[in-house]
Amino acid sequence: MPDPGLRTLDDLDVAGRTVLVRLDLNVPMQDGEVADATRIERSVPTVKELLNKGAKVAVLAHFGRPKGKREPSMSLKPLCGPLGHALGVEVAFAEDCIGAPARRAVAALQPGQVLLLENLRFHAGEEKNDPTFADALAGLGEIYVDDAFSAAHRAHASITGLAERLPAAAGRLMQAEVEALSRALDHPERPLAALVGGAKVSTKLELLGNLIERVDLLVLGGGMANTFLLARGVEVGRSLCEREMADTAREIMAKAQDKGCGIVLPTDGRIAKEFKAGTPSEVVAIEQVPGDAMILDIGPRSVASIEERLEGCRTVVWNGPLGAFEIPPFDAGTSAVARKVAELTAAGRLMSVAGGGDTLSALAHAGALERLSYVSTAGGAFLEWLEGKELPGVAVLRRSA
Ligand code: 3PG
Ligand code: MG
Repeated sequence: MPDPGLRTLDDLDVAGRTVLVRLDLNVPMQDGEVADATRIERSVPTVKELLNKGAKVAVLAHFGRPKGKREPSMSLKPLCGPLGHALGVEVAFAEDCIGAPARRAVAALQPGQVLLLENLRFHAGEEKNDPTFADALAGLGEIYVDDAFSAAHRAHASITGLAERLPAAAGRLMQAEVEALSRALDHPERPLAALVGGAKVSTKLELLGNLIERVDLLVLGGGMANTFLLARGVEVGRSLCEREMADTAREIMAKAQDKGCGIVLPTDGRIAKEFKAGTPSEVVAIEQVPGDAMILDIGPRSVASIEERLEGCRTVVWNGPLGAFEIPPFDAGTSAVARKVAELTAAGRLMSVAGGGDTLSALAHAGALERLSYVSTAGGAFLEWLEGKELPGVAVLRRSA
């Protein structure tokens, strides 16, 4: 569903102009190599479209958290190769994102060429949204395109500062993220379910508070489900669990009932004495977890019940794995539910949106990543969206409409 307030590439005339494109190239690296290129690949359509339209493209990005200092291990230079490879063109590099090196490199750009500028966060002004730093960035180009949805929760100079200074629009990835998330949460086809897993209730309080106001069904898994089980009087043995959050969990369940939001908790679990590969495990009813065991995944009865409920839904948002999927067989629950979501999506019966850190690895592990309606590349920004917060990087693009 198009977002009427959001300016996009369709609203811009970029031929022969210098366009500053904010990307999120904060990709996982291992031994100097890109370990997961998803964010790079997702940035390609916008940059290619701009190049094809004859723009001079200067890419701005951050990497890691160097806290305002030049930190060689967080240079963006090693990403020129992978970005160029994904784009199919050479990517030039500027040793700094402002000042003489940046100006020289931008001045050398020809239409159809692309340049990557050094890590924005080497300057303290980036995270502070310092006006002088934002002015220096803005002085490099004529038009601003933001394709970094996954950094849209940061009101930084290269995000809000630039959009306030230059004619601005969302890139194709930003556009797709905003449209998919709006479709899932703001204008969903109902019934709408949320699948929420992960370790802790305490880190997802605001998210749960917002979701019970909006969704028809909240399915809980992962470590956080144990806290809810405990709050219902179920003994969870040595399972990951926040005992001090039991009252909060009870409040959430009471509020959900008021709002007409159903809460689904596991009815069985796969348990083990230790969380390690090859450890013996078994499935038990959730009321029968021995004192020395841990629940490490939802069991088959819980999976079947979630699958049955999903059959009756039209939209699902998913954040967080339902079990300790990193070590088999504790991946079984998350993978089975992921396959079901993928299957219902393929059949046109479900609109499915997932995102946030571990969720992507869990879906990739299940072979379901490409088969959902939309998988967000964002971690923190996706969570803040689920919390119901307005993301400054998105809001500023709407205001400039
Ligand atoms: C991310 O990886 O979540 C984004 O790039 C934002 O990074 P940050 O959490 O360091 O601001
Ligand atoms: Mg983050």
